[in-house]
Amino acid sequence: MHEADLTHKPTFTQTNICAAGDLASNPEGVPRSRPVLNNTNKPLTVALVNQKGGVGKTTLAYHLAAAAHLDRKRTLVLDLDSQGSALDWFAARTEKSPLYGMAVAKVDVPLTRAAFMQLTEGFDVVILDAPARLGNMTRAAAVAADVVVIPLQPSPLDLWACSDTIETLDSADEIREQLGDSPVRRLAVLNRAQANTKIARSACAAVDFAELLGVTVHQRVAFAVAATTGETVLTTDPRSAAAAEIWDLYGAILKALTTDTATDKEVLATC
Ligand SMILES: Nc1ncnc2c1ncn2[C@@H]1O[C@H](COP(=O)(O)OP(=O)(O)OP(=O)(O)O)[C@@H](O)[C@H]1O
Ligand SMILES: [Mg+2]
Repeated sequence: MHEADLTHKPTFTQTNICAAGDLASNPEGVPRSRPVLNNTNKPLTVALVNQKGGVGKTTLAYHLAAAAHLDRKRTLVLDLDSQGSALDWFAARTEKSPLYGMAVAKVDVPLTRAAFMQLTEGFDVVILDAPARLGNMTRAAAVAADVVVIPLQPSPLDLWACSDTIETLDSADEIREQLGDSPVRRLAVLNRAQANTKIARSACAAVDFAELLGVTVHQRVAFAVAATTGETVLTTDPRSAAAAEIWDLYGAILKALTTDTATDKEVLATC
């Protein structure tokens, strides 16, 4: 039934898609670790989802894509949000940017699996930036993804606001089951955290709907500043603590994807 809902051809801004093979070289000293992806034809697909606005879906989507791009993966960001924030971010980038060659496209309708495969062919990593509004778009993203990452601000209000997101992921899992896929892996990451271990610890204990990653991204003005020039903290300030957090997050997500269970203490938070 849901597949029938998703039969439209995708529309995307063709002019904003760069050649996948046009990969920029790594700026000196950026990556500290270089995780290796599985050698399959299907791109590794990560969807950033949360019905709550402003939790950092777009920020983390763009930064994870930048990490993959700098890690020499052919990387595509699909902006599923009608606000088009990821596309705007991308449009602010200059031709001299180290992110040149990273592709960003806006998708206006939920994609069928066939359309998704066609659109993402040739890429190693696909990052899906879901809208705050829940519905077919978010569900289709969770059907297509290998893993969903739920950014959470470490506050009780934000954690309580997750129930509808989880319901949407449950309904995506029903579609996945019909397609012969296992349930989508659900990871959560604390973003915009202040240096307050008590709040972080109680947030940690409250996340029982996903596997909470052991990496926390803190509130840092560098994230917003980088966006003004279409850049990321990986490219504006590669040796910063902010950049280190993003590399750690990228590594943790890849590591989680290569483990079957939620028991990897190196990747997951220990509360
Ligand atoms: N770790 C961070 N430190 C500082 N600012 C951040 C951080 N993460 C996100 N922000 C800022 O928070 C605001 C909202 O972030 P973002 O647009 O990524 O959220 P979103 O979940 O995509 O929102 P929406 O649901 O509206 O699409 C932006 O101004 C962004 O620069
Ligand atoms: Mg957004």
